[in-house]
Amino acid sequence: MRIVVFASGSGSNFQVIAEKANELGYEIDCLVCNNPDAFVIERAKKLMIDTIIINHRDFSNREEFEEEVILSLKDREFSLIVLAGFMRLFSERFLSVYEGKIINIHPSLLPKYPGINSIEKAFIDNADEVGVTVFYVDSGVDTGKIIFQEGFINNAKTIEELEERVHKLEHRIYPLVIKDVLEGKL
Ligand code: GRF
Repeated sequence: MRIVVFASGSGSNFQVIAEKANELGYEIDCLVCNNPDAFVIERAKKLMIDTIIINHRDFSNREEFEEEVILSLKDREFSLIVLAGFMRLFSERFLSVYEGKIINIHPSLLPKYPGINSIEKAFIDNADEVGVTVFYVDSGVDTGKIIFQEGFINNAKTIEELEERVHKLEHRIYPLVIKDVLEGKL
């Protein structure tokens, strides 16, 4: 079972997805990254994972960027695209090429706090419960069908503490959810 991971930034989720691959029985075919300065590229190099860098700024619109991504994945075999901090939205055309095959993780209990700065928003709100959500990607911002959620009681004293707990939870559940989606259990 092969996956392709899309990421734009630090790549801590990419790292755990890669580290757990053998144990959980999937393989990362390649990393797709739209940001040539992203730290995730260093991580992939160390892990010896093939990386495709396509800078969206080199294209005049989203459709052209996406066509290049589709082209670069044309001869690769994989059954799931896993977004891990990928900071672009997809068009209907892109979604139809990979229908039902794109998942994402978000650091909140969706539909609460979609979009950016979700952990900060939950902290400022003093939300009782916080958590993470894995979902199928659609053309909206964090609006797709929910696959899995896990929450915990928010008793964090600082935003850093809350961030650390949320990211730890992401790192624990994402590889397991990927495995279950690949095996058709979720
Ligand atoms: C994570 O919080 C994920 O939920 C969100 O983007 C962040 C990516 O972090 N979609 P990292 O690049 O995996 O460290």
